[in-house]
Amino acid sequence: MKAMVTIGLLTLAAMHSSGVGNPAATMVVPEHVASGLAPTPPMGWNSWNRFGCRIDEKLIRETADAMVSSGMRDAGYKYVNIDDCWEASARDEQGNLAPDTTRFPHGMKSLADYVHAKGLKIGIYSSAGTMTCQKRPASIDHEVQDATVFAAWGIDYLKYDNCNNQLRPAIERYQAMGDALAATGRPIVFSVCEWGQNKPWEWGRFVGGQLWRTTLDIQDSWASMLSILDKQVGLEKYSGPNAWNDPDMLEVGNGRMTNAEYVTHFSLWALLNAPLIAGNDLRSMRDSTRAILTNGEVIAVDQDWGGKQGYKLKGDKAAQVWIKPMSNGDRAVVLLNRGPATAAISATMQEIGLSAGRHQARDVWAHADRTADGAVSADVPSHSVAMFVVRR
Ligand code: GAL
Repeated sequence: MKAMVTIGLLTLAAMHSSGVGNPAATMVVPEHVASGLAPTPPMGWNSWNRFGCRIDEKLIRETADAMVSSGMRDAGYKYVNIDDCWEASARDEQGNLAPDTTRFPHGMKSLADYVHAKGLKIGIYSSAGTMTCQKRPASIDHEVQDATVFAAWGIDYLKYDNCNNQLRPAIERYQAMGDALAATGRPIVFSVCEWGQNKPWEWGRFVGGQLWRTTLDIQDSWASMLSILDKQVGLEKYSGPNAWNDPDMLEVGNGRMTNAEYVTHFSLWALLNAPLIAGNDLRSMRDSTRAILTNGEVIAVDQDWGGKQGYKLKGDKAAQVWIKPMSNGDRAVVLLNRGPATAAISATMQEIGLSAGRHQARDVWAHADRTADGAVSADVPSHSVAMFVVRR
């Protein structure tokens, strides 16, 4: 393991010196970035936040349908991911993982074919332990067998959880599955769901992961969302093309935050280069939810090819400024008001790394161009953001 980490770090150092992620670099996406499994943060949907264990093949098919009809697919969402509770209570006679036949009577291959026919990709879930968190059979010591089955079904993405891990070393457990997925020869995105317990940002990419959870689970609340945000401070240097910090899936549209709070959640996740994995019911979402999830100008910040994760520039408990250097030299800026009353929030051009003077500032929620003279500023209502892309 040690040798691998060293090689990996050299690769990382080489990436930095080659100008990857450097705002001054050209717009041409380097080959080794483009050819990876997640050159930009993965986008899709996952069943857990909204449905928990109440999942079946009808839901997955209808979600794939809705992904297309709602415009989500065209906005860039690609993966339809099945979380925990798809599994039968025991392995089959061959020792293979098998779906719960009441919930998934046509099996996973047929479901994968359905999702693929929509121009989408399909993801599945297991745990690097003896059982999943919901006590279904899981993959520790069955990595090769399970990866082979997933590949045979046509799976494109594996979320690999951390429950019932027998306290065995995390790196070994995740490495075993990373190796098994690679050995299938099928491109399968590997989502390391280790909850940030053993600093997966330091090793996730070296076990074959394209993304790794940095925290325990998000809840559909303003407090939960902000507590996860705060835990991202300092992790920005570990993120980049094909290797993303994952502050957990979106709660946008699940009903326990206000619309402005969901706008805040989505803006910040985009600024963090978070995987954008919707977690709501796509079949019945309101227009206001769809407008958030499909805002192409915000998605473009998340998907900026240079993949330089945004970070907290300054602020106190209430008013904060978060910025992200875009690969063309622009700056994405989120003015965040966590406090109880409207606040005037601003950052000077020098603070955000641009030359003094006038700059065009695109308000990516109002879809309007403004002029920012010397500073980017806004009166931001309570529990809201203003978000701009300030032109270089
Ligand atoms: C948790 C994981 C959640 C969800 C859940 C399923 O460990 O962090 O995102 O997958 O297990 O049981």
